[in-house]
Amino acid sequence: MSIIPVQEIMLSHPEHARAPHDPAFESGAAYAGKICPISEASIPILDLGFRHGDAAYDVVSISKGLIFRLDDHLERFARSSAKFRLRNPFDNHRTSEILIELVKHAGTKDAYIWWCVTRGRLAAGGRPYHADSYENQFYAYVVPYRFIADDSVRQRGMRLQISSFIRIPERSVDPTAKNFHWLDLQLAHFKACDEGFDLPVLCDANGKLTEAPGANIFFIKDRVIYTPDHGVLEGVTRRTTMELAAELGLTVRVEAVDAEQLKNADEAFLTSTAGGIMPIDSVDETVLGGTPGPGELTTLLHNLYWKKRWEGWRGTKVDYTQYSPA
Ligand SMILES: Cc1ncc(COP(=O)(O)O)c(C=O)c1O
Repeated sequence: MSIIPVQEIMLSHPEHARAPHDPAFESGAAYAGKICPISEASIPILDLGFRHGDAAYDVVSISKGLIFRLDDHLERFARSSAKFRLRNPFDNHRTSEILIELVKHAGTKDAYIWWCVTRGRLAAGGRPYHADSYENQFYAYVVPYRFIADDSVRQRGMRLQISSFIRIPERSVDPTAKNFHWLDLQLAHFKACDEGFDLPVLCDANGKLTEAPGANIFFIKDRVIYTPDHGVLEGVTRRTTMELAAELGLTVRVEAVDAEQLKNADEAFLTSTAGGIMPIDSVDETVLGGTPGPGELTTLLHNLYWKKRWEGWRGTKVDYTQYSPA
């Protein structure tokens, strides 16, 4: 079995073809007080989301016109917002309506649907540094689907670097709340690319594996699957992977794991909304399992993930006929 060319299918199969849309929305659609072409969306420079990274966000994907696990993403977003004392001005019903409207404006069957709530600005008469004195703001956008690893990278497997950067401590910024504190991940990513790797994975201050920029990590040893139990975002793709593994009769152990275990693994992969299940070829130049390319169980999981999604599993179908471009 080989890794299916998901990107090629998205770009060529008629069921993935873009629905009619206003050309102004070709690059995507955004919501910033109103729906507009993505290039026209702007946020006020004084919003604390911009100035202090004071925000919670989430991202869900749509493929073949089916939004995957929208309710799970909305629930996680509500939990992230509550942890940061942010209030979404819209309830879940209205939030999904806006997100679906954006998808229809862009006409995209395969897309990345992003939204956030920022702290905003101090309300008139509000008390500075009192969380409830700010006018929290909602912003969102939809752009054609983005892959962390495209078909060719997933087919050869990613070259991963164990980063010298450590993940921001969970007692500083809770990584289970999806947040804007990305500089540790971003700088680690730049370093990994400078040094010839595709992506870094970061450990915590105690040397335990955490996560990669925008992705959770899994490895497989003797047909048992391992993933870190703390210091990570509880990824929806991570949860999906655990469910798929159970369906295949595989054991998943969620526990503290270290970089050496990853290097000695038979197989490994990353999981993310932005790419699904992404095979790892090597870690710090050690080829996993001694054989280059995606492992057998990783390939099974990768292909099952997309098969089930395209069959409509946990999907919310978008009705594009209810939107007529101007
Ligand atoms: C830091 C971090 N970890 C993990 C993930 C994967 O989460 P999900 O599978 O819900 O996309 C993301 C997603 O963007 C992320 O930002």
